[in-house]
Amino acid sequence: MSDEVARHLSGIIESMRGFLAAMMDPEMGRHAADPAASNFIAGNPQELAMPQYVRTLQRWAEPKDKDWFGYKMPHRAALAAAAEGLSKELGLSFGADDIVLTRGAHGGLAAALTVVVDPGDEVIFISPPWFFYEALILGARGKPVKVRVKPGGFDLDVDAIAAAISPRTRAVLINTPHNPTGRIFGEDTLRAVASVLEKGSARNGRPIYLISDEAYSRILFDGNRMITPGAFYPRSLLVHTYSKSALAPGQRLGYVALPPGIPGRDQLRQAFMVEGFATGNMLPDAIMQYALPEIDAMSIDLEHLQRKRDRMLDALREMGYEVHSPQATFYLLPKAPIADDMRFARTLAAQKVLVLPGVAVEMPGYFRISLTATDAMIDRALPVFAEVRSGLAAGVAR
Ligand SMILES: Cc1ncc(COP(=O)(O)O)c(C=O)c1O
Repeated sequence: MSDEVARHLSGIIESMRGFLAAMMDPEMGRHAADPAASNFIAGNPQELAMPQYVRTLQRWAEPKDKDWFGYKMPHRAALAAAAEGLSKELGLSFGADDIVLTRGAHGGLAAALTVVVDPGDEVIFISPPWFFYEALILGARGKPVKVRVKPGGFDLDVDAIAAAISPRTRAVLINTPHNPTGRIFGEDTLRAVASVLEKGSARNGRPIYLISDEAYSRILFDGNRMITPGAFYPRSLLVHTYSKSALAPGQRLGYVALPPGIPGRDQLRQAFMVEGFATGNMLPDAIMQYALPEIDAMSIDLEHLQRKRDRMLDALREMGYEVHSPQATFYLLPKAPIADDMRFARTLAAQKVLVLPGVAVEMPGYFRISLTATDAMIDRALPVFAEVRSGLAAGVAR
C-alpha cells in the first residue's frame, strides 16, 4: 500500500473514532451478544421480520424465467413503484426515470457524493452526524466541513451553514428527520437553507448540491409530515431507503430520487450509471428489486413505536433523566446523568442494558436509545435505568 493510500485510509478510520470507540469497547462488547441483554444500541430489528415481508421475499425468490437472476437493467416496475410511493409521500411528482436504485441509503449517499464531488471539493455536513458521513465524504475524495445544529432544539443553524460556504463548497449534506435528535427540519428552515445555497452557488459561479438523507422519512410520530428540502431547492439528491420502514436493513434496498426541475437531470442519471460501473456500487439484488413495489407499501407498526417512545419518555423523565421528545426516527437522546457517557453506558452494560454512548454520535454527555428494542427489553431495562441513575447520583454526591 502506498503512503498516500495509507494516509487516506487512516483519515477515514480517524473520522469514525467516536463510533469505533463505542462499538469496540470490550466492556460493552462482552454483553452485546448476550440474548438476555436489552439492546438499545442500533436501529436494528430485535425480533423477527414482519411475516408479510418474509412472504414477499420468498415469493420473489422463485425464478419465473431463465433471466430471473441474470445481469439486467434496473427493474422497471421497481422504479415506477418507488416513484409513485415517493410522489405520495412528499407531494412532489416523480417518474420512473427520476429514480436510481441503490443498495440502501449508504449506497445512495456514496453514489451521490461520487457523482457530484471533485477531488478536494468541500462538503458541509451536519453534526451530530450519522456515523459514516465523514468517511463517505473522504471516500469520494472530498473535504468534510462540519456544522453543528443549534444547541437548544437541535434545529439547523442556517447562519453557520452560510458562514461555512467557501469557493470550494460543492455540496451540503443534511439529514431530515434527523438521527440522533429526532428533529424534522421545518419548511422555513429548509427555505432559508435553499436561499443560502442559491446565493452561494451564484457567488461561486458553480452549483452547490444539496444531498438530503431522508432515511427516516416514513418513521414519523404524532401525525407529523415529512418535508423535503427538494421542494425548495431543485438541485437536490434525495436519498431514500427501506431499511427503516421495513426494519430489515440487512436486505439492501433504497434509491436516490431526482426532484422535479433538477438541472442537468439526464446527465446526472447517466453519471449515476457510470459511477456504478466504475465503483461496483451497483443495483440492489434481483429479489429486492422485484419485491420493491410490495415493500414500498409496507411499514413497521408506527403506533407501537410511538407507544414505546411515550412509555420510555414518561418513565425516564420520572426517574429524573432530561430528554426531549423526538418528532420522528427510532431514537431517544437523553442526557446522561454524568458527563462521562462512556462510563455511564458501561455501567448500564454491566447490568445487560446496552445503549449507544453519545461520543459515538458527537453528543458527549448524552446517550442514544433505539426504540426498536422490544417491550420485554424495555420492561427489564427501566428499573436498571432508575437504579443506575440513583447509584451514580449518590456516588457523585459523596
Ligand atoms: C441517518 C441515516 N442515514 C443512512 C443510514 C443508512 O441506511 P441504510 O441501511 O439504508 O444504508 C442510516 C442507518 O442507520 C441512518 O441512520
